[in-house]
Amino acid sequence: MIRLDRVSYSYPRATSPALNDLSVDIPAGQFCAVIGANGAGKSTLCSALAGFVPHFYRGRLTGTVEVAGIDIAASSLAELAGTVGLVFSNPFNQITGARFSVRDEVAFGLENMGVPRAEMETRIDYILQFAGLAGLAERPPFALSGGQQQRLAIASVLVMRPRVLVLDEPTSQLDPVGSREVFTVLRDLAATDEATVVLAEQKLEWVAAFADRVLVLHEGRLVADGLPGDILASPDLQRYGLEPTRYTRAARAAQAAGLRPEGDTLPVTLEQAAEFFA
Ligand SMILES: Nc1ncnc2c1ncn2[C@@H]1O[C@H](COP(=O)(O)OP(=O)(O)OP(=O)(O)O)[C@@H](O)[C@H]1O
Ligand SMILES: [Mg+2]
Repeated sequence: MIRLDRVSYSYPRATSPALNDLSVDIPAGQFCAVIGANGAGKSTLCSALAGFVPHFYRGRLTGTVEVAGIDIAASSLAELAGTVGLVFSNPFNQITGARFSVRDEVAFGLENMGVPRAEMETRIDYILQFAGLAGLAERPPFALSGGQQQRLAIASVLVMRPRVLVLDEPTSQLDPVGSREVFTVLRDLAATDEATVVLAEQKLEWVAAFADRVLVLHEGRLVADGLPGDILASPDLQRYGLEPTRYTRAARAAQAAGLRPEGDTLPVTLEQAAEFFA
C-alpha cells in the first residue's frame, strides 16, 4: 500500500537531509508506528506520505514515494486528499472552525467530495459512533475537550475513507485522559483491518500496545524495522535517543538484581510484564 524507494529529502537551505535513503514497504491493513528522537524525521516522513513534501515544503526530494499506487511527486495534493488522510498533533490546526456543530464539521470533507446526502448521513452516523462522539454531534467543535477535538479531527479524516491514514503524534497536546480516548479509537481502527495506518509516536507504551510493526528513524535514516516486542525491548533503543518502556526497564532491573534469569524475553506491555514477573 505504501512503498518508499530510496527516499531522501532536504528542506530548503538545510545542511543535512531530514530523510536519508529510506526504503520501506507497508502492506495494506498494517498498523505501523514510526518512532525516533526529536528531529529524527518522523514528521517529515508523515508529510512525504501525504504529499506535503514536496508539494507544500519545497526542498529536494529524490527517490519515490508511492501510496496506493500513486506516485506522490507526480500527483497534486487535491488528488492525494482522497487517498491519504493526515492527522496533525494539534487538533486546532485541523478543525475548520467554519462549522457550528461536530456533525457539520465531519460533513465538511464529504460535501466537498460530492457524496450524496443519504450516504453522507449514514457515513457520518457510523463514524461519530466509532469515534465515541455520537452524543456530542450537535455541540460546537471548539466546546469539546482536547481529546474529543482530536477524535473529531480523526473522524473528519476517516469519514472520507482514505486508503491510508497518517497520524503525527496525535496525542502530544493531550492530557492522559484525552490520550487514552484517542488511542482507544486507534485501537478500534486497527481491529477493523480496513485502513493502513502510519503513526508517528513518542509514547512507546502505546506503540507496544497496538502497532503491528515499528520503524525506528535516527537522523533521517531507517535504523530498525520489526515487531514491537523486538524493537522496543532491544538494547539499541537508547542509542537512538529513546527510552525503553517502564515494563522493559523494570524487567532489566530485576535481571540485574538477579531476581529474574537473563535471556528471558523482556516485556514491553503491561500484560507481558505481568507474565514476566509472575
Ligand atoms: N519546516 C522545516 N524547515 C526546515 N527544516 C525542518 C523543517 N521541519 C523539520 N526540519 C528539520 O528536519 C529534521 C527532521 O525533523 P522532523 O520534524 O521531521 O523530526 P521529528 O522526528 O518529527 O521530530 P519531533 O520529535 O521533534 O517532532 C530536523 O533536523 C528538523 O530540524
Ligand atoms: Mg515531529
